[in-house]
Amino acid sequence: MASFLEDEERQRLQAQYSEIATLAGGLAHEIKNPLSTISLNLELLEEDLRDDESPQSRRAQNKIHTVRRECRHLEEILNAFLQFARVGELETSPADLNDIVRDFIEFYQPQANDHGMEISPHLASNLPAVAVDSSLMRQVLMNLVLNAQQAMPEGGLLEFQTYEKDGRVQLNVIDNGPGMDEKVRAKLFQVFFSTKPGGSGLGLPTVRKIVETHNGSIQCESEPGRGTRFTISLPAS
Ligand SMILES: Nc1ncnc2c1ncn2[C@@H]1O[C@H](COP(=O)(O)OP(=O)(O)OP(=O)(O)O)[C@@H](O)[C@H]1O
Ligand SMILES: [Mg+2]
Repeated sequence: MASFLEDEERQRLQAQYSEIATLAGGLAHEIKNPLSTISLNLELLEEDLRDDESPQSRRAQNKIHTVRRECRHLEEILNAFLQFARVGELETSPADLNDIVRDFIEFYQPQANDHGMEISPHLASNLPAVAVDSSLMRQVLMNLVLNAQQAMPEGGLLEFQTYEKDGRVQLNVIDNGPGMDEKVRAKLFQVFFSTKPGGSGLGLPTVRKIVETHNGSIQCESEPGRGTRFTISLPAS
């Protein structure tokens, strides 16, 4: 009887959650359109004033510049939010995680060079296949790597390790950046938690949601001054 009630309660909460999620997604969409009209008109206004070098026009241009920057920030937050809300529909196919990691490294290498990031892959051979949505897994890698890059503005080392453990396929993404203290680590996966100016704080929550939708798990080990390691574990297919 108790478990029946629990089931009913869970279903009620689930329905409530998806209603709120749908509403929030719709709201984000509704905000995006007028926001892009505002951005576009600000851009046109900026162009109109460009040749006017009077102090009054310069002041106006500075203000327009600030408002445009804030619009871009809002657009980024809305896009990250919509991305977060969309995760859940997977198009999986059996894949070799090593291939996904190799493709990603090839794609990211030019940016890594620009930021002084050295990449070191250690990919186990004979890795079992995993059933994944490759484009979402790429997004997972991108979010983790961007965080590492942003944590190491002077550059650093980024390591990718794949291996099999207890019938699961594991991926470590390790950086030798500044690491995190206990306080930051405790909030890492909380929606909207960010220590960066302009950060949306949706990167890692999206990563976790993608991984968990694949029936996987993600863990983080990090210590100030000793770098950060994210470990993703996926069921072998
Ligand atoms: N590799 C890392 N090294 C140090 N700190 C990290 C690392 N990865 C994440 N963090 C910390 O975790 C916080 C949350 O990360 P998350 O990716 O969710 O959001 P964000 O990077 O701040 O913003 P967004 O990804 O939405 O642009 C970051 O603000 C940062 O403080
Ligand atoms: Mg991030």
